[in-house]
Amino acid sequence: MSATGQTKRIMPARIEAMKGTRPIVCLTAYTTPIARLLDPHCDLLLVGDSLGMVLYGMDTTVGVTMEMMIAHGQAVMRGAKKACVIVDLPFGSYQESKEQAFRSAARILKETGCDGVKLEGGEEMAETVAFLAARGVPVFGHVGLMPQQVNAVGGYRSLGRSDTEAEKIRRDAAAIAKAGAFALVIEGTVEPLAREITASIDIPTIGIGASPACDGQILVSDDMLGLFNDFKPRFVKHFAELAPMVSKAAEAYAEEVKARIFPGAEHTFQVKK
Ligand code: KIV
Repeated sequence: MSATGQTKRIMPARIEAMKGTRPIVCLTAYTTPIARLLDPHCDLLLVGDSLGMVLYGMDTTVGVTMEMMIAHGQAVMRGAKKACVIVDLPFGSYQESKEQAFRSAARILKETGCDGVKLEGGEEMAETVAFLAARGVPVFGHVGLMPQQVNAVGGYRSLGRSDTEAEKIRRDAAAIAKAGAFALVIEGTVEPLAREITASIDIPTIGIGASPACDGQILVSDDMLGLFNDFKPRFVKHFAELAPMVSKAAEAYAEEVKARIFPGAEHTFQVKK
């Protein structure tokens, strides 16, 4: 609690200091009601650009805009009281130059009030990460499988089996940690490599499809809630099965409306006599 009686938000520096203490709990959130529900249980909520696919039905995250990230960042900030809230920089908003990255990050921080930004990339983004960190922007890195590069790498698959791939991810992780990121997502990466990177860098690694060896875990909340019947990659565990519950509820509603059972007297406004 703070002096004003409000719950204190977990800041990026505290996430960084959690390395080696206990596993760091992270989930994605895109809306106020979901952020309210997840916040008490999470150290960090990520407004991921996965929202393009999860909420908007896009095939990839490439089409996600700054306006979408800002609107959903604001929504999550209205619901999260305790967790550290990080917003993704969308594709095209930071790769051109470190100055462009700073302008985009500053806009997201100012317009959402979030605690930091995430960007994808390894060695090629290290200078940008250092530029942002030196100017007061907490940066969450992201290496391994990088969904914004899906068009270049030709699809989603786990990485790090070949020596060349493993060496690239190793060097990417080291570069982003050295540049001053406060934590690092490792996505879709084989366990021995995720373990090796976790042991070799000073900042926490947060895994998604990167084994229990990481310092923390993140999942797309809609995946772990079982909101998609038709999508369950190996690294996802359903902690609930909401898709069939939603279908059943919609079916029951439709039946009651058609049969004039809903709305009942208890749902109906009358004029008092
Ligand atoms: O966009 C996203 O949701 C992410 C996480 C899955 C790490 O980058």
